[in-house]
Amino acid sequence: MTQAIKAALSDGVLTITISRTDRKNALTNEMYGALADAVARADEDEGVRALLIQADGDLFTAGNDIGEFAAQSTGNGPEEQHVERFLRRLATATVPIVAAVQGKAVGVGTTMLLHCDYVLLSDDAQLITPFVNLALVPEAASSLLLPLRIGHVRAFDMFALGDPVCADDAVAWGIANKKTSASELRAEAAKIAAKIAARPAGSLTAMKRLMRDAAMIVAQIDNESAIFADRLASAEAREAFSAFAEKRKPDFTKTAHV
Ligand code: COA
Repeated sequence: MTQAIKAALSDGVLTITISRTDRKNALTNEMYGALADAVARADEDEGVRALLIQADGDLFTAGNDIGEFAAQSTGNGPEEQHVERFLRRLATATVPIVAAVQGKAVGVGTTMLLHCDYVLLSDDAQLITPFVNLALVPEAASSLLLPLRIGHVRAFDMFALGDPVCADDAVAWGIANKKTSASELRAEAAKIAAKIAARPAGSLTAMKRLMRDAAMIVAQIDNESAIFADRLASAEAREAFSAFAEKRKPDFTKTAHV
């Protein structure tokens, strides 16, 4: 397991901590691989009764590593995309998943929350899905799950404009369960995970299966992945990635509509 993803099992709760704070916890292919392995372990190891996802530092995650997006956009990405494995594992997981989110949760940092069963936010949490700003499309089945959860117009706003959604709105709209202070976040999340771990695991697993149509969710991930791959290779996306690297605003007026 990479140092940037830590996993620790205690009293039936497997805690995964995202920890690449010098890059704002941006997720690399290697990190997705470690996350996928951890979710697989949580589902397969009978000693794990709840999974808790949290992050070190002042924000949850800045989303996918944009340098890696840029490499993929020119055909220089890794042979195996671990993100695919991670998203499938998350979508089909039957172990109850708790998330503790402080600061910004960008891109997959927000869309992964749609696969969690209990989401706790700190007061300063901001959910941001800037896929269109990067000339991409939503992933992790969020194009299906987010409109279902919060309605089309709010989901369109989040996806198309990429403006941050604050903790109060996220709770009011049903993306998260509740908010707490940043200083209480971890302890509170651990308490909730421990409570869930004390419930009958077989019943929880059966309930979770009934609540989520995993086959439909995976089918949507597949639909999105094909379009996402096309978008990654587009001139618009290359302009967005170059602009990020050069710390400037992208100029989409000179790129073709592809
Ligand atoms: N991929 C790669 N590197 C990233 C990154 C990402 N997603 N997010 C941040 N970093 C890097 C920055 O380039 C910067 O590197 P530098 O020190 O070499 O300049 C470092 O992490 C610190 O980030 P910085 O932007 O200075 O921090 P901030 O607190 O001002 O802003 C964010 C934090 C998350 C708002 C901002 O970094 C950001 O918008 N990141 C991109 C988010 C994004 O679009 N993700 C993809 C979603 S699909």
